[in-house]
Amino acid sequence: MPVRDIITLPDPKLRLVSKPIERVDDDLRRLIDDMLATMYEAPGIGLAAIQIAEPVRLLVVDAAPKEGPRAPMSLINPEIVWSSDERNTYEEGCLSIPEYYEEVERPASVRVRYIDRDGKAQEQLAEGLLATVVQHELDHLNGVLFIDYLSKLKRDRVIKKFAKIARRDDGKGRL
Ligand code: NI
Repeated sequence: MPVRDIITLPDPKLRLVSKPIERVDDDLRRLIDDMLATMYEAPGIGLAAIQIAEPVRLLVVDAAPKEGPRAPMSLINPEIVWSSDERNTYEEGCLSIPEYYEEVERPASVRVRYIDRDGKAQEQLAEGLLATVVQHELDHLNGVLFIDYLSKLKRDRVIKKFAKIARRDDGKGRL
């Protein structure tokens, strides 16, 4: 389960719309295992395939409390089929926008439909932190980042900051 490199802002791949997955096979399960290893290593609580430069509709999450046992989930071709009117605010971060956190308001609960790693159709009601993580990761599959929910001023400021870091690094390694 090799840990993969996570791409960061301003990598244009983060703005791609990922393609649906047509077949759940061992290659895909290997990709899921790589993503889980990469997420736990980071450490993070969610990762979309595009964040390791794979433009397919796949995400992994583990929103379980840190003290408890791991609860890895992999969601293939996820779709939100219902969102609550009630909204919730969490301070969000993103492994592709390291060390930047801002509050984002989203529906408090969502019902998500997806295919699991065995190829079975599943539906789950996500609430609390899991609801936020699922929505944040699903946004990645559509090229949307959490900074898109901030004011233009804040968004421009963070994009500029990361562009500057990328220029300074001159493409060598990531911070
Ligand atoms: Ni993210």
